[in-house]
Amino acid sequence: MSARPCYLSGVQPSGRLHLGNYFGAIQNHIRLQDEGECLYFIADYHSLTTLQDAQALRKYSFAAAADYLALGLDPAKACLFRQSDVPEVAELAWILSTVTGMGLMERAHSFKDKTAKGIQPTLGLFFYPTLMAADILLYGADKVPVGQDQVQHIEMCRDMAGYFNHAFKKEVLKLPEGVLSAAPKVPGLTGGKMSKSDEASVLPIFGETSEIKKKVMTIVTDSKGVEEPKDPEGNLVYQLYRLVASKEETEAMAAAFRKGGMGYGDAKKLLAAKLEGTFGGAVRDKRKKMDENPDMVEDVLLTGAKKARRIAAETMERVYEATGLPVSKVKRALLDI
Ligand code: TRP
Repeated sequence: MSARPCYLSGVQPSGRLHLGNYFGAIQNHIRLQDEGECLYFIADYHSLTTLQDAQALRKYSFAAAADYLALGLDPAKACLFRQSDVPEVAELAWILSTVTGMGLMERAHSFKDKTAKGIQPTLGLFFYPTLMAADILLYGADKVPVGQDQVQHIEMCRDMAGYFNHAFKKEVLKLPEGVLSAAPKVPGLTGGKMSKSDEASVLPIFGETSEIKKKVMTIVTDSKGVEEPKDPEGNLVYQLYRLVASKEETEAMAAAFRKGGMGYGDAKKLLAAKLEGTFGGAVRDKRKKMDENPDMVEDVLLTGAKKARRIAAETMERVYEATGLPVSKVKRALLDI
């Protein structure tokens, strides 16, 4: 066992990755590649709860992997794979469901929140936290960096691991620890949260310069005139600008807003230019290379899946052993890739 902690996290490919994903998660995931054994996956099974469009799922899964690589994920340091390339995760989710009480599942906030938003209340959506628990337990993750909305899922995962170990009287599954990312909140363009399912709310990480500019120009502001003093804290343009600008630039914009003379139009231009400076240029070129050479991305995902599958096979063997499911030669052969 290596002494470095194992970090694991997943991102759903249910739309184009956006600034909220970047500042809330991806940036931190990439930083962690120097601090531990990192496993990151594209949670395509999870996305099926909201996305039923084969072409879109394939497109966004590929794009999510390409985005991570273009943004600096180094496959020599961190393992990147598609969740469904290790289907044992669905098997483990089933096994966990047999030791998990309905009461625990019924307390999950995300199911209630999502169905309140109009997402179909399918069995899969209800089961979602069990699959997420399997993601974490299959790889024996120590630490799971997540946003606030996922904290309850980590608690549920710990509960499920405990139920399993208790039921089968053996410490088979390791209880993970959630690591709440200290990321700043990224507001959506339409006032609420930036959310993949609401295209109008999203600033994609990788869009063409013209698209990003256009999107920035649509940000809703109040109707204060250029000369009027404004509270920077209360406006979206400033809140987004400070994510990409330096401390000095951020302070300069705040001061100009307070003093008067800084109009929203000018602030939007500054924001668009900063976004171009951060995610345009060489980073965007790197991202474009991935589109031109999809095999490069597929190779990374294949290598990642092989590594992930080996870890998964070891866990499953212990799970079979503990539960009485057959650890047969056939099964071993199937797992051994
Ligand atoms: N549910 C997470 C989200 O929507 C994605 C996810 C799936 C995940 N499985 C995971 C995150 C395991 C951390 C660990 O953001």
